[in-house]
Order: sequence, then C-alpha cells, then structure tokens
Amino acid sequence: MILVTGGAGFIGGNFVLDWLANPVAKGIVNLDKLTYAGNLATLKSLKNDARHIFVQGDIGDYDLVLSLLKKHQILAVVNFAAESHVDRSIHGPGEFIQTNVVGTFNLLEAVRAYWSDLSDSAKKEFRFLHVSTDEVYGSLSPTDPAFSETNPYEPNSPYSASKAASDHLVRAWHHTYGLPVITTNCSNNYGPYHFPEKLIPLVILNALAGKPLPIYGDGQQIRDWLYVKDHCSAIRRVLEAGKLGETYNVGGWNEKPNLDVVHAICSILDSLRPKTDGASYASQITYVKDRPGHDRRYAIDASKLQRELGWKPAETFETGIQKTVQWYLDNQEWIDGVISGSYRDWVKKQYN
Ligand code: NAD
Ligand code: TYD
Repeated sequence: MILVTGGAGFIGGNFVLDWLANPVAKGIVNLDKLTYAGNLATLKSLKNDARHIFVQGDIGDYDLVLSLLKKHQILAVVNFAAESHVDRSIHGPGEFIQTNVVGTFNLLEAVRAYWSDLSDSAKKEFRFLHVSTDEVYGSLSPTDPAFSETNPYEPNSPYSASKAASDHLVRAWHHTYGLPVITTNCSNNYGPYHFPEKLIPLVILNALAGKPLPIYGDGQQIRDWLYVKDHCSAIRRVLEAGKLGETYNVGGWNEKPNLDVVHAICSILDSLRPKTDGASYASQITYVKDRPGHDRRYAIDASKLQRELGWKPAETFETGIQKTVQWYLDNQEWIDGVISGSYRDWVKKQYN
C-alpha cells in the first residue's frame, strides 16, 4: 500500500480517486486530519472499496504515522497534507507553521525511522514524494522567465514561507540521511472538489448565488493554471520514474491574469446557465481591497518534467475550465455540504 496524507483535501482527494480508478493499483492508506479543508464527501464513491483505508489523524503525530507505516508495510508516501490558503495564512499563520513545518518534520522523522529498518532492496524501492508549490519561488515581473527548478527560494507569504521551510527539511533529510525523496513544485490547480475559498470555485459559486465576484486590487495578477487531474498524472509519473533527491516543476503552460479567469468563468456560465435578467455574470464583478503582499506573477517552466519523464498536461485552460464549471453545476449536493457555518464565517471575515 501507499500512504497518502491530506487525501480528503482538493488535490489529495482527486489523487486518491484517480489512483484507485485503476483496478490494479496498490491500495491507499489515507491520513487526513479533516480540518475545515478536508471533506469525506469527496471520497464517497470509495465507501465499498477495500483498497481505501481512511484514518483521521495528524501528520505531526509521530507514533500514529510510524504505526501506520509498519502495519501496512507502506511502499511510498505522497505528502499533500498542508494548510494551503494564502489569505488564511495572513489572518493566522500559526497553523501553517504547525502543520507545514513541524508536521512535515515529524512525518519525515517517522518515515526515516520506518525506512531505516527496511531491507536494502525495500529501502531502494521506497519513495517519499513531497507536494509543494511554485509560490516558494516568490513573485515574477512581467518579463522574467518562468520559474525553473534552479530558481532561488524567495517566499513572500506566511503560507509560501512555511512550504519553503518544509521543502528545505525534505531536501536535508535526503542529503543527510539518504531518505529517498522527490519534491514537486506545482502551479495553481483548479477542477472538481475545490473548496470555494480559492478564486475559481469562489467565483463560480458566488456568480450562481448572485453575489459579488471579488477581484483583489486591479485583477492583473497572473497565475499559471493547471487542471487538477493533470497534476495527479504528473505525480504518478514522478513516483514511478522521478530521480531521487530531484525537484520537478509541474505547470499547465496557462498564464492568465485573474480578471481574464473571472471573465472566462462568467462567459461559460452565461451560456450554460443564463441569468434570468439577461445580464452577463460579469456584471457581478466587484473590485475589493488588495491582499497584503500580493505576489504579482507566477509562471512555471515545466520543461524538465516533459524532457526527462515525458509528462505534459492533457488539458488547456479552455477545456479544463469548461469541465470545472460543468462539474460545479452538476454537483450541488457536494457544494451544499461545504457551504457550512464555518465557511460563511470565513467569507464574512475575509470580505466584509
Ligand atoms: P487543501 O487545503 O484542499 O487540503 C489539505 C488537506 O490536508 C485537507 O484535507 C486537510 O484536512 C489536510 N490536513 C491539513 N493539516 C493536516 C495535518 N496536520 N495532518 C493531516 N492532514 C492535514 O489543499 P490542496 O489544495 O489539496 O493542496 C494539497 C497540497 O498541494 C498542499 O501541500 C499544497 O501546498 C500543495 N499545492 C496546492 C496548490 C493548489 O493550487 N491548491 C498548488 C500547488 C501546491
Ligand atoms: P487563490 O485561489 O487564493 O490562490 P493563490 O493565492 O494561492 O494564488 O488566488 C488566486 C488569485 O486570485 C490570487 O492572485 C488572488 C486572487 N483572488 C482574488 O482576486 N479574489 C478572491 O476572492 C480570491 C480568493 C483570490
């Protein structure tokens, strides 16, 4: 079996579903703390699949992690678990340090203890894949080349600083202890099961609810969008063929200013679910106060992954965003489950 952490979140959940869609895939032990971002409804279709074992718990719980590794004779760990939302890290950075830094440290230590006792051949086969972000590289000017794996780390938000710290720990555990690690640094994901605090699902749901579509600052900040299922296929590829100790950038080759992303969503909704008053959903766009320290531009150069491991994304932004909007229109039950009281409290705190 493999151990997936954070597998009830957005990307981890998609990864677990896609992995187990392969009938001959190894089983998954899914360790997730079920914070506000964890959602078992995402994994509902696996209810009767014996290959999926869900465990509610913390990556920072050394004893629990070590016992799961031993009990299930884990062959690989894929670490998605993290606090992941920049705006929340600005309001309250403490949880980000706790999970992303201290939690990753404890996870690495439990994995090291387990791995050290494996046979030589099992040691060679074992993998620890750490899922990170392009945000560790900082912010680009409009003319800078896209981030490559050799860019220096220049994190600007409490979130990206905590992820950068975790990446450094992972790197050091390889260099010092020989732990067989690989790190992936990925651009902004979007797609099914995305918690509606992030731009794309927030805009889709606010549009349908007749609420303002909040654009921070001038809306010209650029992100490089990757359809989540392409991210999952990249991780599977890196797991099977990535070189130990290496990092791989994963991106969609889809740089877009935020305002263009919001307009794209509005025009898809205009055709799939026209507003009753005949206006465009774009009429709901509202400019709001900018995010403090807002990074201006991210762009990923994913050519190493293509050159060395033959991976490239299957979706363009146009095909991926169409599928995403359609998914939200088709999955009202999942949406109802996440728009809880605590979600409403967050929206009030952030946008009031
Ligand atoms: P998410 O916030 O949707 O999910 C995180 C999951 O981790 C949740 O299920 C949560 O319950 C769980 N979790 C949090 N703290 C935990 C802990 N201490 N122990 C165990 N589980 C815990 O995040 P996501 O968007 O799915 O991101 C997954 C990973 O990918 C993160 O490491 C993130 O930094 C990275 N990443 C995300 C993006 C993106 O666009 N979403 C882009 C690049 C990298
Ligand atoms: P987000 O989805 O939070 O991802 P990240 O900050 O990790 O890139 O935000 C994507 C971009 O959209 C970012 O530039 C901030 C902007 N944004 C808005 O303009 N309005 C919003 O309500 C949100 C949540 C984000």
